[in-house]
Amino acid sequence: MELSSLLNRFSEPETLKMAKLGRELKAKGIDVIDLSLGEPDFNTPDHIKEAAKRAIDENYSHYTPVSGFAETKNAVIEKLKRDSGLTYTPDQIMIGTGAKQCIANVMMAILEEGKEIVIPTPYWVSYSEIARMAGGEVVFINAIAAQGYKITPAQLEAAITANTRLFIFSSPCNPTGAVYSREELAALAEVFEKHPQVAIISDEIYEYINYTGKPHQSLAQFESIRDRVIIINGLSKGFAMTGWRIGYIAADKQLVKACEKIQGQFTSGTNSIAQRATIAALTESLEPSFEMVKEFERRKKEVMELLKEFPLISCVEPDGAFYVFPEVKSYFGKCAEDGTVINNSGDLSMYLLNTAHVSTVAGSAFGAPDNIRLSFANSLKNIEEGYRRIKIALDKLS
Ligand SMILES: Cc1ncc(COP(=O)(O)O)c(C=O)c1O
Repeated sequence: MELSSLLNRFSEPETLKMAKLGRELKAKGIDVIDLSLGEPDFNTPDHIKEAAKRAIDENYSHYTPVSGFAETKNAVIEKLKRDSGLTYTPDQIMIGTGAKQCIANVMMAILEEGKEIVIPTPYWVSYSEIARMAGGEVVFINAIAAQGYKITPAQLEAAITANTRLFIFSSPCNPTGAVYSREELAALAEVFEKHPQVAIISDEIYEYINYTGKPHQSLAQFESIRDRVIIINGLSKGFAMTGWRIGYIAADKQLVKACEKIQGQFTSGTNSIAQRATIAALTESLEPSFEMVKEFERRKKEVMELLKEFPLISCVEPDGAFYVFPEVKSYFGKCAEDGTVINNSGDLSMYLLNTAHVSTVAGSAFGAPDNIRLSFANSLKNIEEGYRRIKIALDKLS
């Protein structure tokens, strides 16, 4: 069978590949500790599950409007007002099958051959690959550890050309945990003001998983660029609902209409039961989410302590999300007991999986080849055992 050349334009998500390798080892009876996880290790809050059960009993079993139930869109509108002080109308909202599909809708609606998308690195694995699938050209901006993994206005200015149509970033960021302050966003907004051809995707999926103690900030709060900011969010991370596959877009109504046209051909709309549960998630108590975030914060502190035992590893403390993203390049060039040389973060990640039976994700997947990503969405017991094993394995490298 001859397959399309489209498949050569992008690669499969490294994060999912790593999870698959870990599962394969587990299936062989090996006790693998999974620190590659990109999802909360918590159950969905009960009141959301109850809403889903009610939706089944009330026979929400039919196709939904392509862009989502009116009540679900209204819940998104209520949430954006409550949390960010932003006002939207229903024709500016769209529900999709996870934030990932929402991002894909937007990229397909805006990008095409000859059009560029600017992505600060380190970045979430799928940004570049979906953009390439949509035919766009990816331009990276390198945000290094010394700048807290955040880009400067000068870097942004230098990356934008007449062909730039999109910019995408996440704050809080996966994988670095970097959170842009209001002042930092204001400085980026000033740059965007000068380039009206650029639409801006603000991926806010980690909004609630924020340890700064300050309210979440969105680029959409800057009036001068507001009509070009596309908020992407979803229920996966903040409500422990990865499998429910709910995401949403809040944006200019013309763009939402374009996304609806695309989504209408791909999925016909988003799961009806999950959409009903979304209403409960977005408009009822956030207490379970806040409790979960408190636990993540406890783990983050513990992880930062554990990392002190690794003198060759340096790590910027994350302000959000549930990952640490240490630099591990001091181990490159070292040799394992069987003679294998660790040349890069991919080799190190595989070495840790095969020797310590701990799964991590190589930083190369996020455009940061000197780092690896370790999730703390796992129990403290597993985290401590995982770091103990990693230390033994790293100490064996010579
Ligand atoms: C930064 C970022 N954006 C979007 C997503 C996609 O989330 P969803 O499960 O809603 O598709 C993820 C998931 O890992 C993510 O880390």
